[in-house]
Amino acid sequence: MLKARIAVLVSGGGTNLQAIIDSQQAGNLPSGEIALVIADKAGVKAIERAANASIPCEVIIRKEEGFEEKVLEALARHNIDMVVLAGFLGILSADFIRRFGKPIINIHPALIPSFCGKGMYGLKVHEAALEYGVKVTGATVHYVNEIPDGGKIIAQKAVDILPGDTAEILQRRVMEQAEWKLLPAAAEMVAAELIGR
Ligand code: GRF
Repeated sequence: MLKARIAVLVSGGGTNLQAIIDSQQAGNLPSGEIALVIADKAGVKAIERAANASIPCEVIIRKEEGFEEKVLEALARHNIDMVVLAGFLGILSADFIRRFGKPIINIHPALIPSFCGKGMYGLKVHEAALEYGVKVTGATVHYVNEIPDGGKIIAQKAVDILPGDTAEILQRRVMEQAEWKLLPAAAEMVAAELIGR
């Protein structure tokens, strides 16, 4: 395989998708190429980001009947070698993970095992960190298995919590200082392994 064909699954703003696109355009994703974006909701900014980068994008509505079947079919049709969950809010079933049978990685906006698991996503993660009073948080990239945020950890990066932080300010700092650095680097690492680099 010359380059690993990567599908990025998104649900919202797509800033993590954008980080991977920018990394690829800067030549920092030599082992892979973003071959497909799948949005599980219509009208999200991530779709625009894919279009601006001329990346094929399919909208497969998560709440609709047969969502996982449709995603598996799109991944096969595009000959995808690995999946990156980037701000993706769905939980993929064990059956999906088994049937896809190739690497799936996810970015979580906390230092797993803190502030993770079912129902911990987006701002809720940062609200929980502020509520608990931790002084350091960060982001984690991990392999996806059937346990929400439960797969083997690939990379983590710590981010300081500062006096006066709100959940929104903290989320932005974690994105800028951790997520947008970790995910592109992890995508390249997993892609390089896939192509035997
Ligand atoms: C953010 O909360 C990010 O921490 C998490 O998903 C949310 C949106 O990400 N991974 P994105 O901007 O859609 O990539």
